[in-house]
Amino acid sequence: MNVRDYDPTKDRAAVLRLWREIGWLREGNPDEALDCLLQAGRTLVSDINGEVECMVATAPGTIQHLGDPIPFSGVMAVCTSLIARRQGLAKRLTARAVAAQVAEGALVSGLGMFDQGYYDQLGFGTGGYEHYVTFDPLLLNVNARPRVPRRLTKDDWLLMHQNRLARLCRHGSLAMQEPTVTRFEILLSHNGFGLGYGDGPNGALTHHFWCEADDLEYGPHNVKWLVYQTREQFLELLALTKSLSDQVRLVRIQEPQGIQLQDYLERPLRQRRTTYRTRYENTIRAVAHWQTRICDLLGCLERTHLRSDTVRFNLRLHDPIERYLDNGASWRGLSGDYVVTLGPSSGAERGTDSTLPTLTASLNAFTRLWLGVRPASGLAYTDDLSGPPGLLEELDWALRLPDPRTDWDI
Ligand SMILES: CC(C)(COP(=O)(O)OP(=O)(O)OC[C@H]1O[C@@H](n2cnc3c(N)ncnc32)[C@H](O)[C@@H]1OP(=O)(O)O)[C@@H](O)C(=O)NCCC(=O)NCCS
Repeated sequence: MNVRDYDPTKDRAAVLRLWREIGWLREGNPDEALDCLLQAGRTLVSDINGEVECMVATAPGTIQHLGDPIPFSGVMAVCTSLIARRQGLAKRLTARAVAAQVAEGALVSGLGMFDQGYYDQLGFGTGGYEHYVTFDPLLLNVNARPRVPRRLTKDDWLLMHQNRLARLCRHGSLAMQEPTVTRFEILLSHNGFGLGYGDGPNGALTHHFWCEADDLEYGPHNVKWLVYQTREQFLELLALTKSLSDQVRLVRIQEPQGIQLQDYLERPLRQRRTTYRTRYENTIRAVAHWQTRICDLLGCLERTHLRSDTVRFNLRLHDPIERYLDNGASWRGLSGDYVVTLGPSSGAERGTDSTLPTLTASLNAFTRLWLGVRPASGLAYTDDLSGPPGLLEELDWALRLPDPRTDWDI
């Protein structure tokens, strides 16, 4: 398999063909969307007969771990053309892309998965459930009267991106660095529109949402992102959503971290029953669709500040990515033995300490533990993680983290 960097002059036509062939660019989607995504970071490609048939695009950002933003790189797109499937191209190219992310300074890598199991082979562990709340906006129990908002269009992508970066970030939140990432999403939105408020210096956006809808007349309106910095701004956006309810029958919002959106709904269970299996069904659905992997253990732990007692243990780590990287490669994953400290000040060093208990884990499971997706005792049931009961219990107490939510689909 040959691997090289994407060359826009030479490869654009082949990659556009690939994206159209697999349905990622549909009728009406501009070719420019692809350029936006690929401008946001690095893209590796693999050829067959001199033309690109597989590509992996990445882009830089940060992921929030409690109060610390950690250098992150998103695997934004992985695809193989119809003529090149099941030859191991995507898996090996993604492994190479992760190694390139590490070389560029990413401490964590993440992606939106097409399904569970595939990227697990490269060390990615599944994130927590995201809740999608679909409701009749008339039943929002917010009584504030929203001010007249500002109308946002596809041309306001830079303002919206800046507002996304300045939003309230919580545990697990992603912030993707390059504005063209936001432009990419906007260009692919069907009937996209935004509403918001510019209360910042010189009218900078402070809070807004961006929506798309197949049926602009009645909905459902799918809120792609909801951005705010304060409770008042959040409530104003909900009130604004409610103000559309004389016309719009259904709105879908991804639940923000720390908030139980059902608290804002009138009679949610009655509504759920009455709309069951109708066109405007009110539901709350849960799905775990993103994955992350630690790429630099020492770097991540140096930036880990838990509000807990300190736990020290040996970590025997197995990183499955090494199978998909060349023997001579300078980075071959994180397999090995470490002595780990987790607490207000954390760290890791290579080696073992015979006086300490040992945790054995795949990189996938350890990443989930570190991010707080599930506690050690739960991962010991469902994932590749084991240790003495006393250590698991100590880790359960030390890592009582908020449910991580990326609040940015990649
Ligand atoms: C997903 C996709 C990138 C895979 O590309 P590919 O080059 O054919 O993938 P690979 O050859 O590396 O891997 C295919 C293997 O993974 C296996 N696989 C697929 N889904 C899997 C899963 N959820 N868990 C485990 N294995 C899985 C396949 O069965 C196949 O196994 P085989 O090698 O034993 O036959 C390709 O199908 C594609 O482009 N799909 C459309 C776009 C897309 O969904 N991209 C992913 C975005 S996250």
